[in-house]
Amino acid sequence: MNKVSVSSPSNIALIKYWGMSDAQRTLPNNASLSMTLNQCVSYCTLARQTSGTSDEILWKTASGSLIPAQASMRRGIEQHLQQLRQHFDDWQPLRIATVNSFPTGAGIASSASGFSALALAFALRCGQSFNSPDLSRLARLSGSGSAARSVIGGFVQWPGHPGQPHCPPEQFAPAQHWPLHDLIAVVDAGHKNISSREGHRLAASSPFYAARLTQLPERLNTLREAILNRDFDTLADTVEREAVEMHMIAMTSKPAIFYWQPVTLEILARVRQLRRDGLQVCSTVDAGPNVHVLCTPQDVSAVYTALRKLPGVEQWIFDQAGDGPRQLARHLF
Ligand code: DP6
Repeated sequence: MNKVSVSSPSNIALIKYWGMSDAQRTLPNNASLSMTLNQCVSYCTLARQTSGTSDEILWKTASGSLIPAQASMRRGIEQHLQQLRQHFDDWQPLRIATVNSFPTGAGIASSASGFSALALAFALRCGQSFNSPDLSRLARLSGSGSAARSVIGGFVQWPGHPGQPHCPPEQFAPAQHWPLHDLIAVVDAGHKNISSREGHRLAASSPFYAARLTQLPERLNTLREAILNRDFDTLADTVEREAVEMHMIAMTSKPAIFYWQPVTLEILARVRQLRRDGLQVCSTVDAGPNVHVLCTPQDVSAVYTALRKLPGVEQWIFDQAGDGPRQLARHLF
């Protein structure tokens, strides 16, 4: 296949992957659980380079023109490409174009969607099927562990067998099982100062990290059951505790990492109040200041009405549980 295009979604972690057992192969210390998103996606078109012998890595601007990708993005893509080429023993120079439907590097897991899209497009070009069990490993060759979860839709656990970090992710419920909404409050759309990779590296320096690891298996099972039973109260309690705990580990790492901003805390408090008022809503925060406000389809408009005027939120992004990556007939070039 010469030209291949795909879209691949971001995902929101409900049980966070925080800390690595093997940095070389991007393997986690703990099993994580995520909901694949629907609207926050990366698009990627990949084709054999016809002019010249080096790769051309392009970014599609809002006005639709293709420009050379920024140096930091280029570096990440080149490193990932190197791994993919070694895996497939395919060394042809490529023309690659990519674009995200949402702010890049702002804690909305653009690396999860971007690298899973690149891995999928490369694998399809090399004749692999969309359902290949290898895709999650190819995605995490990028160094982004959350990319391993983005190759699957719905509610995903990675690794599929906790305690066996090499196991691929598994879907334990499709998006249609419980089409939860995710209203994403973009508090700061800029790049985060401290990468997740650095956070993973420092996690074990927190005096509370060992205790976290012993509690996670039970929490994961509780959350899985809550999702399977569509039990929102248990989901809300578990997801909020989990987010606070991950950030507590970051804040007590040496050196400390603070991802939250004052408005992050303000949103968390408002969400708790809305829940006390009877709405099915809860929140979680990845490695950044932005807040994912999760709610049921019946309460989404009441939740947005209550939160939309909050000062300090640059943008609201509306998302929902989604089905996962897709191959596209429309190309970026
Ligand atoms: C807090 O190493 O996958 O989002 O590649 O930057 O997306 P990126 O990060 P990655 O770590 C993810 C950390 C997290 C929790 C999670 O997604 O499980």
